[in-house]
Amino acid sequence: MKKLEGSIQFPGDKSISHRYAMLAAIATGESEIHFFSTSADCQSTLNCLKSLGVKVDRKDNVVKIAGAGLDGLRAPAGSLDAGNSGSTMRMLSGILAGQAFGSVLTGDASLSRRPMKRVADPLIQMGASIKTAEGGCPPLEIKGGCLKPIRYEMPVASAQVKSAILLAGLFAEGETEVVEKLPTRDHTELALEQMGADIGRHQRTIAVRGRARLEGKKFYVPGDISSAAFFIVAGLLASNSNLVLHNVGLNPTRTALLDLLVPMGGRVKVVNLEILNGELLGDLHVDSSQLEGGGIPEELVPGLIDELPVLAVMGTQTELGLAFRGAAELRVKESDRLAAVAENLRRMGAEVEEFPDGLRVPGKQKLHGVEIDPHADHRIAMAFSIAALVAEGTTVIKDSSCVDISFPDFFETLGRVAV
Ligand code: S3P
Repeated sequence: MKKLEGSIQFPGDKSISHRYAMLAAIATGESEIHFFSTSADCQSTLNCLKSLGVKVDRKDNVVKIAGAGLDGLRAPAGSLDAGNSGSTMRMLSGILAGQAFGSVLTGDASLSRRPMKRVADPLIQMGASIKTAEGGCPPLEIKGGCLKPIRYEMPVASAQVKSAILLAGLFAEGETEVVEKLPTRDHTELALEQMGADIGRHQRTIAVRGRARLEGKKFYVPGDISSAAFFIVAGLLASNSNLVLHNVGLNPTRTALLDLLVPMGGRVKVVNLEILNGELLGDLHVDSSQLEGGGIPEELVPGLIDELPVLAVMGTQTELGLAFRGAAELRVKESDRLAAVAENLRRMGAEVEEFPDGLRVPGKQKLHGVEIDPHADHRIAMAFSIAALVAEGTTVIKDSSCVDISFPDFFETLGRVAV
């Protein structure tokens, strides 16, 4: 594998950018969001907010949003297109459930196959009327209004569902409580705290008091650790690497990747820690490493959900391989990620065992260059670009522009550091 060398400043975190934009839209006063994500997904969120009458002004990666207040959104002229973005559709549903007007949320072919009952169920319990297409899939027809607070025990570990309920809770009179099965990313909770909402957390329960006034703010979005993940893995696998990744978001609910890799022998050093808007960030120094591999404990899975495809690729290059279960959620992401990883690893000549909810990838395997089908899924395209670096021969990633969904500069960045 080539040498990986240089420094990278990643675009703003996608998860955090969605949340800051949505919360800014229903806050009072102006918000200014710096280092807003360059992803197509976050642009989908901004487009939907504009269709709801919110004044959004984007210049490069600074986004100014004039808060419309809790009751200031307007009925959209047509349907709201969430594109490929599950986060846009699910989290915005929470806000739309609190509106007296009706709205329809649509998405692209991939999003139109994804499960939405998980957000519709709790929002219906709160008093919204939500119709889905067959099988609980989009489009979503939402008619909201007078919501009542609920206590909801989530059957799936999903930060999007948790966030949708908390956002809807802002519109309900009284206290809405969400109980998580396993901890998931807490960016919504942190942003709500920053904007002055009345939000409490006790173990796995999060409570928000409705009708609170949110204050617009100046925000700085940390670099996206889920984009950095591809470069962390590449840097560890390369035989001669010296990578510095600047201002990476290190919120503890997102760093399961480091918690896993460091004990496996991954040489990642964290320096220059700081906290901005309640979010931890820092620089990462990544050096070539001998990775042991092993099993991923099930309770780490929700914290690694977006990183599992590249970890499976990495598994082929470790001593013991890599195995994980409890990840059936991967089958309902932008593609069926368990099937897509297994299919493409096999194409590259690797052995892999597929379970209904996981994968087992033996270690010390040779990969060879082939054509990869990412199934229009950005994280599969990026994971197999890292596989391509360790493979013998040339790899072609079909329809590689799908990386725009989260990281439009991915190939340019990889080309710059893979020298
Ligand atoms: C996200 C949560 C995760 C993740 C997605 C972004 C978020 O989805 O896979 O990329 O921003 O809350 P789930 O909530 O469906 O697990």
